Amino acid sequence: MATPHDEHFWNSLGNYDEEIISIFKEAEAARPLIERILRHVGPDTVVADLGCGPGKLLPYLKDAKKVYAVDKSANMLAKARNVCGQANVEFIEASFADLALPELVDLAVAVSSVLPASLTDFNRLMAGIVAQMKLGATLVMLLPSFESQLYYSNLRLAWLIEGERKEESEAYRQITAMHAKYMNNLFGYIQGKTDFPIQKFWIADELSERIGSLNALSDTRIDRFEKPWSAFFPNEQKWIRAKPPCWMWLVTAKRQ
Ligand SMILES: C[S@@+](CC[C@H](N)C(=O)[O-])C[C@H]1O[C@@H](n2cnc3c(N)ncnc32)[C@H](O)[C@@H]1O
Repeated sequence: MATPHDEHFWNSLGNYDEEIISIFKEAEAARPLIERILRHVGPDTVVADLGCGPGKLLPYLKDAKKVYAVDKSANMLAKARNVCGQANVEFIEASFADLALPELVDLAVAVSSVLPASLTDFNRLMAGIVAQMKLGATLVMLLPSFESQLYYSNLRLAWLIEGERKEESEAYRQITAMHAKYMNNLFGYIQGKTDFPIQKFWIADELSERIGSLNALSDTRIDRFEKPWSAFFPNEQKWIRAKPPCWMWLVTAKRQ
C-alpha cells in the first residue's frame, strides 16, 4: 500500500481535489497563508514551491522573478503544468532530499508537503531544503498539529456522548478506533505498511526543538493557522460549531 511518503501514493491519486484535504480548497481559508507568503515576494525574489502538488499556489507567485515548482510526483507535476501558463515558473521533478535547483532561492515554501516517514527522514528532507536557500532566505512551512488533532478527538468524543447520546464506553471505543486509524502511534511517523496515509502531527514545542536542533535556521516562528472545520471535514459541518476551529502550524524561519 502506497503512503504519502512515497511518490506512488501521489502518482496514483485520481482526483486530487476530492481525495486530498488542501488548504487551497477554500480560497478564504488560504488567504492568511498566502498573505504571509507574499510578504516575502517581490520582483527580484526567487521562490521554491516545494511539493507544489497540482500547482494551487503558483498563480499567487506570478510577480516573483522566478519560481521553481518542485514535486517528486510526475502525476502532480503534470496536473500543475496543465493549469499553469506562467513564464516565471520552471517545473522540477525531484525529492527535497536530493534537490539541486539551478540557483539558491530567497524563499522556500512547503505547504503540507514535508511528510517524513521517520525522524531521520525529517532531518534529511530539511537538510535538502535548507541547502537550496540563500543565507538569510525565508522558509515558510505548513505542518499538521498534534494538539489540534487531540482537540478534535475530544470534541468528537463529547459530541458522541452528548449529541448522539452514546454510552461513554461506546464513544470511547469509536474514538479509540479512529485514533488507531488516523494516528497509529504517538510519534506520528509511519512505521511499516498501513492501509491509511498516517502523517506526522507535531506538538508545537517538539517542532520548535526539532527545528532548533537542525542548527540551520534562526528567527523561527510557529503560529497557529486556523482552518475552518469545513476545510477538514466537509461532510460534518452540521455537528462542528466549536471555536476555535482546528489548526495547523504555520512555521516561518530564516536560513542562517
Ligand atoms: C498534500 S500535497 C500538497 C500540495 C500543495 N503544496 C498544496 O498545498 O496543495 C503534498 C505534495 O508534496 C509532494 N511531496 C511529498 N514529499 C515530497 C518530497 N520529499 N519531495 C518532493 N515532493 C514531495 C507530493 O508529491 C504532493 O504533491
